[in-house]
Amino acid sequence: MKKANNSSILFILVLWLLMVTTFFTLLVEAKKNHNTKTKMHKNKKHKNVDHRNNPPNDANSPVPIPDKGTSTYPTKSSVFNILTFGAKGNGVSDDSKALLGAWNSACKVTRATVEIPSGIKFLIKPITLQGPCMPNLILQINGVILAPPKIGSWPKSSLYQWINFKWVQNFTLQGSGTVDGQGYNWWGTSQPNQKKKSKKIPDIKPTALRFYSSNNVTVRDITIVNSPLCHLKFDNSKGVKIDNITISAPESSPNTDGIHLQNTQDVEIQYSNIASGDDCLSIQTGCSNVHAHHINCGPGHGISLGGLGKDKTAACVSNIVFEDIIIQNTLYGARIKTWQGGLGSVKNVTFSNIQVSNVKVPIMIDQFYCDKNVCKNQTGAVAISGVKFNHITGTYSVQPVHLACSTSIPCIDVDLISVQLEPTPGYSGFQQELCSNSYGKSMGPLVPASIDYCVRSGSDYVKRISRSHDYYCW
Ligand SMILES: *[C@@H]1O[C@H](CO)[C@@H](O)[C@H](O)[C@H]1NC(C)=O
Ligand SMILES: *[C@@H]1O[C@H](CO)[C@@H](O)[C@H](O)[C@H]1NC(C)=O
Ligand SMILES: *[C@@H]1O[C@H](CO)[C@@H](O)[C@H](O)[C@H]1NC(C)=O
Ligand SMILES: *[C@@H]1O[C@H](CO)[C@@H](O)[C@H](O)[C@H]1NC(C)=O
Ligand SMILES: *[C@@H]1O[C@H](CO)[C@@H](O)[C@H](O)[C@H]1NC(C)=O
Repeated sequence: MKKANNSSILFILVLWLLMVTTFFTLLVEAKKNHNTKTKMHKNKKHKNVDHRNNPPNDANSPVPIPDKGTSTYPTKSSVFNILTFGAKGNGVSDDSKALLGAWNSACKVTRATVEIPSGIKFLIKPITLQGPCMPNLILQINGVILAPPKIGSWPKSSLYQWINFKWVQNFTLQGSGTVDGQGYNWWGTSQPNQKKKSKKIPDIKPTALRFYSSNNVTVRDITIVNSPLCHLKFDNSKGVKIDNITISAPESSPNTDGIHLQNTQDVEIQYSNIASGDDCLSIQTGCSNVHAHHINCGPGHGISLGGLGKDKTAACVSNIVFEDIIIQNTLYGARIKTWQGGLGSVKNVTFSNIQVSNVKVPIMIDQFYCDKNVCKNQTGAVAISGVKFNHITGTYSVQPVHLACSTSIPCIDVDLISVQLEPTPGYSGFQQELCSNSYGKSMGPLVPASIDYCVRSGSDYVKRISRSHDYYCW
């Protein structure tokens, strides 16, 4: 019994101990919870203080600041006005940061528009506007954007281009405004209002607008003027539409190409006016499926494919159509130029319905292209095949047709169809057509009639030579 009694007392004691332990454990837990809650509350208070010190329009804020009235409708397009992002808009202060701020905010929003308002001038230093962005981004230029006029104010590391669009997709650049490269100090031509001769001009000169590695881009309605070098360039891109743009620079400005394409496919260029000191359209290696139509070109150097194959490099250009084009007061009209010693091919190029007026040499294939006085003769050339000159009419002031094809690799399937070229009235010293190593067919009417002999029907042997040089391009 005693033993039993002892066991009972022990049992009660253990039970009591358990209860006491549990009680204290619960008490401690409850206290802990209370402390944590107080701490959290304190933290919240602390954050609020921080927030007040950093208002939402701080430069570090990731929150976009759309214009008034659009923010409440997230499904509607949002407008990001450069003025809202601190632009001065006096044409002298550097507004690049404001443009970059507006771009970066708009980039995150679907169907956003970055707006450069009309009637205001903005000075923009060299800048990269980078994607990828949300779909359907628009840069709306209604005002004027100006490049730095002084060469010295361009950073040495940013001489390749002024405005660099990089990795953008499904993007539109549009508006009634003007992009002004203020390039006169770069041209090395003296301006009447320029007393001092400009300092040494760097070898690298900036292109005004460059699209690099970009897809499905539309450029429309804008005016681009006075670039230090090329006005609008696309490289390594795909899916380009250029519509209703105007490009202009003085005839005396060197190397100021209008539109320059390299390694770019699926391009349509239409209803545009281009006058500059170099090629209106310049198509370089890696381009295919380009359709340019309803273009006014001149003054300048005309429409040009190349120069291709410089320094024994390979070039591949195919499926290019130029049609319904008016070319006036230019050095050349429809031209393909390649360097001696190159590799690769130019295939399937059509120049159709080109109206020329006072063009020095309206039709030209030059496989001896050389920008110095003398270039060494070399065997090997970029093989040219399938070039149609169809319905080229108007006036020339030096030579109507110049087809100088490679002696080692002749041009094949070069067709002259309805080519009618008369001397420009009032000029003298005309030259006869020059035609060598080109094979194809001709179809009347042909003026002068002698150009009928420019293209001969090619033998299978000639075709084999040309095609054996095709292997480089696919
Ligand atoms: C972007 O994509 C949309 C939808 O596919 C299309 O409607 C629009 O035309 C495209 N814009 C450009 C510039 O490619
Ligand atoms: C072409 O661009 C001009 C200038 O921006 C504009 O006024 C005109 O409406 C545009 N035309 C078409 C057909 O879009
Ligand atoms: C470009 O547009 C075409 C046609 O709308 C579409 O099929 C393609 O996926 C687009 N490419 C890019 C990279 O946006
Ligand atoms: C030539 O180019 C045109 C235009 O790009 C294209 O429609 C046609 O199919 C091409 N022809 C050949 C034989 O590749
Ligand atoms: C190069 O070849 C062309 C055509 O055969 C010839 O007229 C010219 O004199 C040559 N030039 C030189 C520098 O050898």
